[in-house]
Amino acid sequence: MCGIVGYVGKRKAQPILINGLLRLEYRGYDSAGISVMEETGIKTIKNQGRVKGLLEVKEIEDLKGTMGIGHTRWATHGKPSAINSHPHMDNEKTTSVVHNGIIENYIELREFLTKNGYKFLSQTDTEVIPNLIHFYYEKTNKKDKMDFVKALKQAVEMLKGSFAIEVLNNDFKEEMFVVRKDSPMVIGKGVEENYISSDIPAILSFTKDFYLLNDYEFAVLSKDDVEFYDINLNKIEKQPKNIAWDVSSAEKDGYEDFMLKEIYEQPKSIRETIGARITLGVKSTLDELDFTKEYLESVDRVYIVACGTAMNAGMTTKKILEQFCHLQTEVDIASEFRYRKPLITPKTLCIFISQSGETADTIAALKLAKEHGAKTIAISNVIGSSITREADYSLYTHAGPEIAVASTKAYTSQIVLLAIIAIYFAEVLGVSSRELEELKKEILEVPKKIEEILDNTEKIKDFAKRISNEKDVFFIGRGIDYTVAMEGSLKLKEISYIHAESYAAGELKHGPIALIENGITVIGIMTDAELAPKTVSNLQEVVTRGAKTLVVTNQDIDKSMFDEVIEIPEISEYISPILSVVPLQLLAYYISKERGLDVDKPRNLAKSVTVE
Ligand code: M6R
Repeated sequence: MCGIVGYVGKRKAQPILINGLLRLEYRGYDSAGISVMEETGIKTIKNQGRVKGLLEVKEIEDLKGTMGIGHTRWATHGKPSAINSHPHMDNEKTTSVVHNGIIENYIELREFLTKNGYKFLSQTDTEVIPNLIHFYYEKTNKKDKMDFVKALKQAVEMLKGSFAIEVLNNDFKEEMFVVRKDSPMVIGKGVEENYISSDIPAILSFTKDFYLLNDYEFAVLSKDDVEFYDINLNKIEKQPKNIAWDVSSAEKDGYEDFMLKEIYEQPKSIRETIGARITLGVKSTLDELDFTKEYLESVDRVYIVACGTAMNAGMTTKKILEQFCHLQTEVDIASEFRYRKPLITPKTLCIFISQSGETADTIAALKLAKEHGAKTIAISNVIGSSITREADYSLYTHAGPEIAVASTKAYTSQIVLLAIIAIYFAEVLGVSSRELEELKKEILEVPKKIEEILDNTEKIKDFAKRISNEKDVFFIGRGIDYTVAMEGSLKLKEISYIHAESYAAGELKHGPIALIENGITVIGIMTDAELAPKTVSNLQEVVTRGAKTLVVTNQDIDKSMFDEVIEIPEISEYISPILSVVPLQLLAYYISKERGLDVDKPRNLAKSVTVE
């Protein structure tokens, strides 16, 4: 949450910072601000509301400096307001700081600083940082930049929590300073210019070469150089990583919104996920994994752990892992897993899924699994993201940057990759079945089948119009279709603000059916031949009570009783969510558009949840 950018080079910093912030706005959009180093010292402009509001501030055009920092905020401590916006400065207005993360002990630090004569203007946790830096810097000889880095180190050693921090100080007109712990930040390497960003897409149009900072590593950026220091302030060398993402992948490319573009990109992103990982008649190759039969036979259980949509993707894999590989599998929400003292042994295999690779709860759950000696696999979309650096093994979805807050193409790519991993396990375990080969064939056919769905969206648009003013919508399904009900309901609530619930269809009569009354919308998903007749009966029960029904199915059922039926191509029920989710993604999208909402930046949400 919160987006940070930084620039130092030969060009005017202001437009580059604003451009970066506009691209990072999906990380938070409660307020925005920038500080630029001018000849006379640091100048700061900040505002409540969206980044574009900064452009309306008259003084913005006066900023001529070639080095600066910027921030777009997702409020944690202190309501959205100009005073709580970043950058924050110390009392003497010598040091300007932007921060992503949470300082957990800020109250204690405020007391410490107050006792030392400091005053606070905002309600934020961040404001302690420039003041702490000032406090320690005053104790140095202020001889050179290393004195400042030393003060920065002393300040961050006082902080508990998570942070990615960028700092400007009036004594250094050509250098800026950064440090991070448990919050994302990358440094982009240019020619006679260098960049900082919370994530790669925001500065992809400027560079494809990125340095990754580990926890408690410091960097000093100038126009021509980036110097790195470890926690003991020993100089360290780093090589930039080249990121092969295409610049246009971070642009809207003619689509009205990123979400729609990303929904339509799914055939391509899935092709990229599959890559050379499966070939018919040949054992699946996963270069990233080196598991043996003995190891997999010794695994006592598999945990799949993630948050939100990534967790919903994980849910779909339980059945394949259990039925093909006979691996007992539990799927859990990371924020629950990390505190519930799960049974983890050195024989446990834990798979963590995160599109961004920066989700705080997922990273914490991964660290817990490692502490207990489990083997860990990370599945992420972002090369070099924190989760991939922590895990024993990392596999990338290669879905390309996902910008819209509502996750779509990441979900389908995660399911594909998880299915491929399950097939790989099954093959290592020596399971050779016709069904396994059939599953591979089905995976290879998925992109074409999604194209078929995307070519035929009229019914979905029409149903979206019909229910766009509803207050409550229910999603039901059984087995793997229940997992899609969960994802469909999450998508709808997050971008349309309609109250949506998902239920295992069989659970309806254990309570929720009490809510079904005339005109209420129930969406049923049916792709499992064995379970479809049962879900049909459950839908019949809500139709009897006056519900309006939409069905997404590839089964041969009596369709006459439903208000609308979206037919999807046939597919193995092990991976059917990859197809059945697409109409639900589009439904949520078109409902949000009907309601005139900001599809890509829904209220209160942020793309990457880097705080607990
Ligand atoms: O980056 P991650 O996959 O770890 O993110 C997890 C969730 O925050 C994310 O899937 C969230 O639920 C999306 N907004 C759903 O559309």
